[in-house]
Amino acid sequence: MSDKKISGAGLRGQSAGDTALCTVGQSGSGLTYCGYDISDLADNATFEEVAYLLFNGELPTRGELAEYKAELLAMRDIPKALKEVLKLIPKDTHPMDVMRTGCSFLGNIEPEVDFSEQNKAANRLLAAFPAIMCYWYKFSHDGVEIDCTSEEESLGGHFLRLLNGESPSAQHERVMDVSLILYAEHEFNASTFTARVCASTLSDMFSCITGAIGTLRGPLHGGANEAAMDMIQKFTSPADAKEKMAGMLERKEKIMGFGHAIYRTSDPRNVIIKAWSEKLAAENGDTSLYDISVACEEFMWDTKKLFCNADFFHASTYNYMGIPTKLFTPIFVCSRLTGWAAHVMEQRSNNRIIRPSADYTGAEPRTVKPISER
Ligand SMILES: CC(C)(COP(=O)(O)OP(=O)(O)OC[C@H]1O[C@@H](n2cnc3c(N)ncnc32)[C@H](O)[C@@H]1OP(=O)(O)O)[C@@H](O)C(=O)NCCC(=O)NCCS
Repeated sequence: MSDKKISGAGLRGQSAGDTALCTVGQSGSGLTYCGYDISDLADNATFEEVAYLLFNGELPTRGELAEYKAELLAMRDIPKALKEVLKLIPKDTHPMDVMRTGCSFLGNIEPEVDFSEQNKAANRLLAAFPAIMCYWYKFSHDGVEIDCTSEEESLGGHFLRLLNGESPSAQHERVMDVSLILYAEHEFNASTFTARVCASTLSDMFSCITGAIGTLRGPLHGGANEAAMDMIQKFTSPADAKEKMAGMLERKEKIMGFGHAIYRTSDPRNVIIKAWSEKLAAENGDTSLYDISVACEEFMWDTKKLFCNADFFHASTYNYMGIPTKLFTPIFVCSRLTGWAAHVMEQRSNNRIIRPSADYTGAEPRTVKPISER
């Protein structure tokens, strides 16, 4: 392989198009949505306001937000046919496969007929994803057919309500809200780029989102929060964490929840979710998971200058809220759907089919030998 290919691997550092939705690794803390810094949004907005911002380019007024939330609330339930499909999916299925199927099936029974319906399709998925995830989870794991509606104010609160069968505390609802804000959008990451490539063929919203879910599923992308949880649960103390991580690095294993393709010294989402993890640890009374996580962070920085990305402290945060590990990445879907759909809309607004070229590295030109001579 030539040097050119090595430096070009993964298309790192190359611009693949324009966007007005997000900057990563540039101004402010390093992440902005439509010009707003992520820390500003996490402190002063709700997830519904952020969804509205990504879909419309501006934050809503009080009246617009009330109308938008009412629209989403009315769309939370899922059709009976989809419930029947979810009931058929086995318990040990990867929950991201459930999300992919749920999204795809909804596209069968409520298709986006033309692009004038793109906001409706995006909002429908946004409102219905918590039900798709929880209906399957509760049915396959506990044999319970849950009511998929709730009067919870926020989508984050709605999700926790469906999962636990009771209203969340104000603190847990807010943590979920912040988490959904942090995961909502991240420029041309792998899953968003998948959605844009699909959109560039003038395909429908459900296909774009289904493809993006499949891309997010991998452990190098969205699956990292679950993988981080699996890892830290095996550590018995901060000292044990450091010792085991040293072994992992020696064996050249990737440590999930660390490093980033664009950020070089820190991920601006980490400081925000880490602070919530610390608060939840204090609330819980048992801070060991948080302490172990901090030890991991210190060790990785001291030995490799690798920093926590958004996923690492999400693991302990979700765990403190009692969320099953297998639902971590599907929650990411419930949030990132907003970024994906916004990118689909943006791609459609100024479209040319995305079709890059490749540098050929294969055989010299040759002719087909008859099969009897091969
Ligand atoms: C995110 C990720 C895919 C970025 O990959 P990338 O752009 O190729 O990473 P970099 O170019 O910064 O890697 C530089 C070096 O650090 C190493 N490295 C990066 N992340 C690492 C990690 N989490 N654990 C161990 N080593 C890591 C790389 O292997 C590379 O080493 P090398 O030069 O000896 O090959 C990578 O950091 C990773 O796999 N992280 C774990 C998965 C994860 O948390 N994903 C969620 C991302 S938000």
